[in-house]
Amino acid sequence: MYRSHTCGELRIADTKKEITLSGWVQTIRKFGSITFVDLRDRYGITQLLFSENLNAQLDANPLGREFVLQVKGIVNERSNKNANIPTGEIEIAVSEFTILNKSAVPPFSIQDDTDGGDELRMKYRFLDLRRNMVKKNLELRYAVGRSTRNYLHENNFMDIETPFLIKSTPEGARDFVVPSRMNPGQFYALPQSPQTFKQLLMVSGYDRYYQIVKCFRDEDLRADRQPEFTQIDCEMSFVEQEDILNMFEGLVKRIFKDVKNIDYTNIVERMTWEDAMWHFGNDKPDIRFDIKIANLKFPQHTFPTKAAQSALIDGASFGVFDDAETVLAIAVPGCSEYTRKQTDELTEWVKRPQIGMKGLVFIKCTADGTFKSSVDKFYDAERLKAIATAANAKAGDLILILAGAEEKTRKATSDLRMYMADKLGMRKTDEFKLLWVLDFPLFEYAEDDNRWVARHHPFTSPKPDHIDIMINNNPVIEDAAKYLEHPYAGIKANAYDMVLNGNEIGGGSIRIFQRALQEKMFAALGMDAEEQQHKFGFLLGAFEYGAPPHGGLAFGFDRLCAILGGSESIRDFIAFPKNNSGRDVMLDAPSTIDAKQFEELQIKLDLK
Ligand code: AMO
Repeated sequence: MYRSHTCGELRIADTKKEITLSGWVQTIRKFGSITFVDLRDRYGITQLLFSENLNAQLDANPLGREFVLQVKGIVNERSNKNANIPTGEIEIAVSEFTILNKSAVPPFSIQDDTDGGDELRMKYRFLDLRRNMVKKNLELRYAVGRSTRNYLHENNFMDIETPFLIKSTPEGARDFVVPSRMNPGQFYALPQSPQTFKQLLMVSGYDRYYQIVKCFRDEDLRADRQPEFTQIDCEMSFVEQEDILNMFEGLVKRIFKDVKNIDYTNIVERMTWEDAMWHFGNDKPDIRFDIKIANLKFPQHTFPTKAAQSALIDGASFGVFDDAETVLAIAVPGCSEYTRKQTDELTEWVKRPQIGMKGLVFIKCTADGTFKSSVDKFYDAERLKAIATAANAKAGDLILILAGAEEKTRKATSDLRMYMADKLGMRKTDEFKLLWVLDFPLFEYAEDDNRWVARHHPFTSPKPDHIDIMINNNPVIEDAAKYLEHPYAGIKANAYDMVLNGNEIGGGSIRIFQRALQEKMFAALGMDAEEQQHKFGFLLGAFEYGAPPHGGLAFGFDRLCAILGGSESIRDFIAFPKNNSGRDVMLDAPSTIDAKQFEELQIKLDLK
């Protein structure tokens, strides 16, 4: 028997028990004739005491960090208790020990505040995984998965696997492709998601499907993106948007309860895409803090239902605002006393290439109700007050205003909003706020190709009232400069994203389930009948055999875990992640393959 207990298990009540433990040597401390060893396994750390009588044996079999050690001994109460660990009241008086395996000196220390850099820890990921912090993340991931499966099982969802070697599924990224030896010159694509399969399963009558499943996307990586990542992928038949929102709010609330013991009793807020863009400058707003963007000037065509308050800034001969396409403001609470140095620092921040603005205008709303601004020359106190009212500023606030080209300014203001909130500690990792963003545009305009692309994916249905606009209008864009005036620009989708603390954790839609409308959609995206048949003949065909109304969504499992774990980086929540260049530095993959493999595949490399 290798062990009677784990290294995290023994307590004061076990005193005097004879036990056997096995684990890894974390630290060795020698005090005169006695030696203390911390023995670690998945469950915790137990202190071992080797007394003088074992010295000869220790000299003959010296221990080292990360050696695999088995000990027998007696549980004793410790004189010097450690309140920081659950086993801190006891230690093991070792009577016998066996080195089960030696270890080379680890390249970094296996503890919370390790001395190993990112790349080194990725290369020796199997050692990094021994660290408590990484282990905690994987435990959280397992708990999220377990909670998800329980909830979905209780709600009649059935876990059904779908293939990895498939034909391209367009989710907006590039495909990873796999050559077929048996079909020379032909390639499989790895799924960007199981989208078309889950829809086929609906046609087959499996009305509640789910899968915790790997997806593969060849796209530029960021902290919240990996080339292979995991989705909680779900689909339901005979549902409307409301059914889906309710079902999956329920899932996330259940996960909060099971994993974090949080009763999320708040109503999950809902916001239209247009409101999100208008008030927060992006489609995944962090609503944990109440700073909204005030639109002082904005091209009317972008958001036809909104009106910017341009009268507030017009006619002051302030060239920066006069020449700008867009002028946006935020009121940052409690910062009216910012010094010159602090406002200069903010100006430098918005001028960084990543943000790319030319400058920053500020108005300090002082406690006595007066205003100090960098544009006093152009705007008198009355006008500054009107701007402050529009920006929803209170006494003590600092108003920050950005002006420039529409998209860039909107993104910069959104980034500045987050930057200030971070600075002021308004984005707490232990506070969670859920939000549904609804009514996305069905199409986006791709400037380079002068054509429409699906904003979500081509299987998403238009809002019922907008189906006619799609059917009755020709998708061709005559004048690229006026694409926003094309009827297709106003078509809204039956699509929804779930946002948690400013991160898109999931998204989905009610699907098209009639062949004719699906064909119309493909045509709108520029696919002729032949291409439609080649790429999606299977789905169009299936829609002829009794496809039920259906819809679904997928959560980014890694992202959800990272946010619940209080981290921005999903890598910390994946056992074997890739680095930012998509490499597995432990395996050294991707790598070349043998000449023989190329021969079997009948592929010749001709690298440019
Ligand atoms: P979508 O493309 O929005 O939808 O993906 C769903 C969720 O997956 C997460 N995600 C990622 N996580 C890590 N790395 C990536 N590279 C990555 N890409 C996406 C996000 C996202 O919200 N088939 C549809 C779903 C549906 O319509 O049912 C789909 O895949 O959190």
